[in-house]
Amino acid sequence: MSETKQSNVLILLGPPGAGKGTQARMLEDRFGFVQLSTGDLLREAVAAGTAAGRKARPVMEAGDLVSDEIVLEVLNERLAEPDVARGVILDGFPRTLGQAEALDTLLADRNQRISAAISLVVEDDAMVERISGRYTCAVCGEGYHDTFKKPENEGVCDKCGGTEFKRRADDNAETVRARLVAYHEETAPLIAFYRDRGVLREVDAMGAIDEIAADLDRIVEQASA
Ligand code: AP5
Repeated sequence: MSETKQSNVLILLGPPGAGKGTQARMLEDRFGFVQLSTGDLLREAVAAGTAAGRKARPVMEAGDLVSDEIVLEVLNERLAEPDVARGVILDGFPRTLGQAEALDTLLADRNQRISAAISLVVEDDAMVERISGRYTCAVCGEGYHDTFKKPENEGVCDKCGGTEFKRRADDNAETVRARLVAYHEETAPLIAFYRDRGVLREVDAMGAIDEIAADLDRIVEQASA
């Protein structure tokens, strides 16, 4: 993030399957921000077999939260890259009060502030269906769903034309339940935290993907004005 110019820092809060990744990628396309997903960064660390990835792997497979120390390590590495000066959408971070406080310190050091913390409000029961139908393009990471978001041409990614797709190891019913418990215990308290700061915006995220995207556009435009 730039030290001289204020750029947008948006937070997307919501339980597993709420649509954080789907909406963050759409905001990235429309506004040019950089999506920073700690889940993606951790999965990259796991795939690369780094020390952080080796510690994170069993925790993620169980659906628990990875330690704040490891999450901040992978996030800080990513924040050192120059593209983040365009503004960032934090997808899946912060997830604990400790992470929220660490983010405050990080932003104060950079003369940055949070433009909006957007909470995607959904019902737990629908999340299992969303997650169990999810798959992504193995080449560009574009997200799809067996029912709710199919590629225009079956088997071909709309975005890059790739024909290989993958599903996440932690997208099974048992792990999803553990992830929902972790969300309610550790992350949901951040809604009050950001409400108290005056930056919370709540969005009904049970509707269609494009309707939610339109709501988010309005919030981002107001927050950027
Ligand atoms: P992470 O990768 O962040 O997963 P998550 O929070 O569980 O969220 P998901 O990626 O499952 O859901 P999403 O909200 O992005 O939904 P999506 O847009 O894909 O974290 C994974 C793990 O990493 C954690 O369990 C933890 O172990 C660790 N971790 C990560 N960050 C951490 C942190 N900060 N601290 C500690 N540990 C951390 O949508 C889901 C599906 O639904 C898709 O198929 C999509 O097409 C579809 N869909 C989206 N919107 C709609 C809609 N409106 N209607 C119908 N379908 C929809």
